Amino acid sequence: MPLREIKPDIFYVGAIDWDRRLFDSLIPLPEGTSYNAYLIKGSEKWALIDTVDPSKEEELLWNLERLKVQKIDYIVANHAEQDHSGCIPVVLRRYPMAKVVCTPKGKEILTDLLLLKDKDFHTVEDGEELSLGNKTLQFIYAPWVHWPETMLTYLKEDKILFPCDLFGSHLATSNLYATKRDEVYLSAKRYYAEIMMPFRNLIKGHIEKIKELELDIIAPSHGPLYAEPEFILQAYEEWVSDRVKNEVVIAHISMHGSTEAMAKHLISALIERGVGVKVFELTKSDIGALAMALVDSATLVLATPTVIGGPHPNALYAAYLASALRPKIKFAGVIGSYSWGGKMVDRVKEVLSNLKVEFLPPVLAKGYPEEGDFKALDDLAEEISRKHKEVLK
Ligand code: FEO
Repeated sequence: MPLREIKPDIFYVGAIDWDRRLFDSLIPLPEGTSYNAYLIKGSEKWALIDTVDPSKEEELLWNLERLKVQKIDYIVANHAEQDHSGCIPVVLRRYPMAKVVCTPKGKEILTDLLLLKDKDFHTVEDGEELSLGNKTLQFIYAPWVHWPETMLTYLKEDKILFPCDLFGSHLATSNLYATKRDEVYLSAKRYYAEIMMPFRNLIKGHIEKIKELELDIIAPSHGPLYAEPEFILQAYEEWVSDRVKNEVVIAHISMHGSTEAMAKHLISALIERGVGVKVFELTKSDIGALAMALVDSATLVLATPTVIGGPHPNALYAAYLASALRPKIKFAGVIGSYSWGGKMVDRVKEVLSNLKVEFLPPVLAKGYPEEGDFKALDDLAEEISRKHKEVLK
């Protein structure tokens, strides 16, 4: 529960969650996370920017107590998901005069999730400003990062942007700022991959709006703050761009070694042709790392045996994940083995059908792969190499 002053009268009052290892019962958190909340003491009004996960309620309240906060006029809810909004009810009980400031859509969702009442809210329009006396909050609508109600809050006089989830990272660290850039870059990329990537095109537009602001600090609600905002802005601009790398994500699983032999052959054939590979064995891979690899690779290849007429369920899950995350990959391929038939390739293609990708010719071996199958994998590697050269021109 470290309490830290960011600028005069602007305090970090959030909580670090060192031990959490899973988010939304889905997303691995190898480095823990934090729920950043901020208190702004204006000359007339005081505002709390977001709250924390309900599991950290006591830490938030303790920080407010240590700052001798007698009143909160506004609780800004940039985003309604409970890791930021979950303590709004308890803050409202302690500071009953406070109003929850959010978008109209935010009001609707917060009403549903937290059972708040109409009287609790002060909704704002896109671009609207709210005076705290000597400080001014400006609200910028930024829907779909990653829920429909999201907005960003800009503190004009201090040039601080509070974007909630956007630019965040699941990283528990004692560093208030992103000073260890390599560590933060990877955590922020993983976060982008898991949370923001499906909304890539919308986020492009939000970044353009943000670039019009004068910024000293970007203060997201997960992970460290950015005292040099261009670091994270440039990283995001690259991730949301249409540019891809000369890399293939190979997600593979095998039952009796046939598909494994094919995956290994393809991996070698690609490396020999100068194509980078990121390899994930699907019985033990971290899905967050797989998501991160999909951020900028040009191609995804799924390697799976045929199980009850379709792909192995783990491969199906990987395909579903890729489809849901909507990465900017350009090409997709399926390789694998079968014994007596099935619709494995059709099933994978079906799941990936919402991706705008060119499907490469599948390579299927009946039983253990033989010379002709390995030759087909060499041809596939050659085709991938050629296609990458075309898109990377
Ligand atoms: Fe960190 Fe979408 O909540």
